[in-house]
Amino acid sequence: MQRFLLVLISLTSVLFLCFSCTKDKIDIDEDRMLFEGVMASGFQYYQNGNKLPGAAPSPHGNFRLRFNEIAATVLDSSGELTGGTEFPQGSIIVKEVYSGNNLDVYAVIKKESSNTAAAKGWIWAELNPDGTTHYSAGNKGQGCTGCHSGAPNRDFTRTFDLH
Ligand code: HEC
Repeated sequence: MQRFLLVLISLTSVLFLCFSCTKDKIDIDEDRMLFEGVMASGFQYYQNGNKLPGAAPSPHGNFRLRFNEIAATVLDSSGELTGGTEFPQGSIIVKEVYSGNNLDVYAVIKKESSNTAAAKGWIWAELNPDGTTHYSAGNKGQGCTGCHSGAPNRDFTRTFDLH
């Protein structure tokens, strides 16, 4: 009986370990892929790439904002998103957050509704300039989507109404 219990306990721990590893791996892969997206070319800057101050209730600080080519397809001639319009699948929006003149962190969202990490249709992450993870996509936007669902928002983005 004791032996049976011992085997059972070992098996459970092995299973638990495997599960934790897989979970970490998914997070890291997702963050790495997002970072590749952040570093890709073809982005269009919002408001000529001017540094903008975070507006209440933003927790992000001074920032520059850019859109990948897919996201840019739905912006109007002044680079704004008309209310009611949604970003297409594959859209990437990168917020470069600065402290003084130094790039602090990339806050990034990618429209990929079918992804298991997605919440409200977007994958949410914060990545350090060296590509390491600050806030993993594996958190499924917990701590992001609540505020980004606040009124007013446009397809869960907040910049267009505040800047
Ligand atoms: C308390 C509110 C709040 C929380 C929490 C928050 N954000 Fe934001 N976020 C904002 C606001 C407001 C803006 C508009 C720009 C500005 O003034 O900073 C913004 C802008 C952004 C943008 C640029 C696109 C847009 O929405 O305009 C990205 C990308 C972004 N946030 C990512 C994130 C991620 C990732 C998280 C979670 C780790 C997060 N945010 C958490 C309020 C929030």
